Amino acid sequence: MDRLFTDQLGEWKRSCYCGEPRAVGVGREMIFVGWAQTRRDHGGLIFVDLRDRSGLVQVVFNPEVSAASHEKAKQIRSEDVIAVRGLLSRRPPETVNRQLGTGEVELLVHEVKLLNASQVPPFPLDDYAEVNENTRLKYRYLDLRRPESLAHLLLRYRMVKKIRDYLDGLGFIDVETPVLTKSTPEGARDYLVPSRIYPGKFYALPQSPQLFKQILMVAGLDRYYQIVRCFRDEDLRADRQPEFTQLDIEMSFIQPKDVIEMVEGMMARLFKELKGIDLRLPLLRLTWQEARARYGTDKPDVRFGLELKDFSACFQQSQVRVFSAVLQGGGMVKGLSVPGGGTLSRKELDDLTAFVANYGAKGLAWIKLADGEWQSPIAKFLSDQERSGILTITGAKNGDIIFFVAADDPVTHDALANLRLHLGEKLGLIPQDRYALVWVVDFPLLEYSAEEKRHVSVHHPFTAPLDEDIPLLATAPLKVRSKAYDLALNGVEVGGGSIRIHQVEMQKQLLGLLGIDADEAEAKFGFLLEALSYGAPPHGGIAFGIDRLAMILSGAKSLREVIAFPKSQRAVCLLTEAPSSVDPKQLRELGIKTIVDK
Ligand code: AMO
Ligand code: AMP
Repeated sequence: MDRLFTDQLGEWKRSCYCGEPRAVGVGREMIFVGWAQTRRDHGGLIFVDLRDRSGLVQVVFNPEVSAASHEKAKQIRSEDVIAVRGLLSRRPPETVNRQLGTGEVELLVHEVKLLNASQVPPFPLDDYAEVNENTRLKYRYLDLRRPESLAHLLLRYRMVKKIRDYLDGLGFIDVETPVLTKSTPEGARDYLVPSRIYPGKFYALPQSPQLFKQILMVAGLDRYYQIVRCFRDEDLRADRQPEFTQLDIEMSFIQPKDVIEMVEGMMARLFKELKGIDLRLPLLRLTWQEARARYGTDKPDVRFGLELKDFSACFQQSQVRVFSAVLQGGGMVKGLSVPGGGTLSRKELDDLTAFVANYGAKGLAWIKLADGEWQSPIAKFLSDQERSGILTITGAKNGDIIFFVAADDPVTHDALANLRLHLGEKLGLIPQDRYALVWVVDFPLLEYSAEEKRHVSVHHPFTAPLDEDIPLLATAPLKVRSKAYDLALNGVEVGGGSIRIHQVEMQKQLLGLLGIDADEAEAKFGFLLEALSYGAPPHGGIAFGIDRLAMILSGAKSLREVIAFPKSQRAVCLLTEAPSSVDPKQLRELGIKTIVDK
């Protein structure tokens, strides 16, 4: 560093934060401390915008007021840390800044202390739009000096505080659970921690505190919550981080509706107090079946229309071979109609076809309704009956376009769900200032994993089946619905939970259906099975992604914006450069040999 500032703060104590002084304080002697955002030399006078977490105040160095201070101020550069003592004064009328809370006043400096010099920042803090995110994350302490970053952390803090107050008011008890623990099957890969004392053995970092919170119910806690870090080694996306924070909740002697009502009260409070929005309760509720049928997904964005329609019945005998062939093979033909979409160009339609191909769709058929004419590559194959069927199902009008995908179930729904979101965004149909919450309930209990060649849990293995579907466990397990519920906000899954299995025999039966034999069940979940056998109450709960909620409520584009020290898209902490190599001695102590060099 070429500049060294050595002044000490000494007995100086700031009068208030930089963003706080107002005209009523004019005439008082005040001390401000903070970072010099900018220094402007105006022939004789030097102006510095002094910043702290609350905002800015203008400080003025006038050689006629203090020649020594004015001389010292010539050294000040962006992001230097300084303290100033002086007289709070009214700005001349023509220099009042109405954009700024402190815009009517300025400090006439009598004395300045240069507390610490800063290197030239790697990016300007007041104009960061073009700054590469990795640079921001490496210098996160600079990035967090920006008011926008700070606002995200502040909103997150206030949200968490309100959540705690709400749950405390309802008698929930915050209990901490271990971080060094055993693997919990939430479906992701575990982060492992080697044990030094038991070489060759590992702790797993929790993917969630699922089993501990259930055991707390067996212990009679009745109402538990925790705001807790969870760890999942999975591929990262904008709404996923390897470590993230859950609001984790569990309650005893309850039904799904009790959890749902408790959560709705909490959401209403958060939206009212953080956004000034009155949520209409009860929130929209869809069954999983309905959500899939109408939106193609279990986390629908219901801020806009473009709902999916099923044309399968219409095309059973169709001359459109791509449709009838898929239907005969047990697939489906579904689609959606876009009001005014007739203006989409040939190039745009080709791009959309390429887009759905990413989700496995072999093609994207379309029909434009233009002046009574049906413009479409498949028009000549459509019968009159099919045409009237299409119009009845879609209600499409002149100027609209209708899209079709013919494929089997997951492909059709995945392709159309993504096409719907893509079109919604492209055509500006999604109101950005609205929030839409929707419950999705009655998820299937199990699905078949072709990869693992066995049934796997849709939620997790501790989720209870719907009472009326219990007989199907023995005969048609894939038809069994569960007491699971998810909450989606603007198309993002913000929370999910379920009523749990509390009877040990049922839990064993379920593990059996998942292909986990008695020995494996004992080894992995023996402690849970044993706990269930000592008088476990009926119980259930839910967990929310705190980062996801904060992201949506603050309008941030990624989770990284609402986490103080997030991991990059490549799972690296760019500030500390973790993960990193360790001392060979540490590995020896752990009984570990690595088989890759770096
Ligand atoms: P689930 O796995 O659905 O349920 O997780 C609950 C919520 O956590 C958030 N979430 C994530 N957020 C950021 N990054 C991630 N990688 C990530 N993974 C999940 C989501 C999700 O809805 N034990 C159960 C809850 C229960 O049954 O009570 C569980 O963990 O917002
Ligand atoms: P083709 O006869 O293959 O040229 O296809 C005619 C139209 O049907 C084109 O617009 C294709 O994109 C579309 N198409 C082909 N396969 C499918 C499919 N599986 N689902 C929907 N549309 C398809």
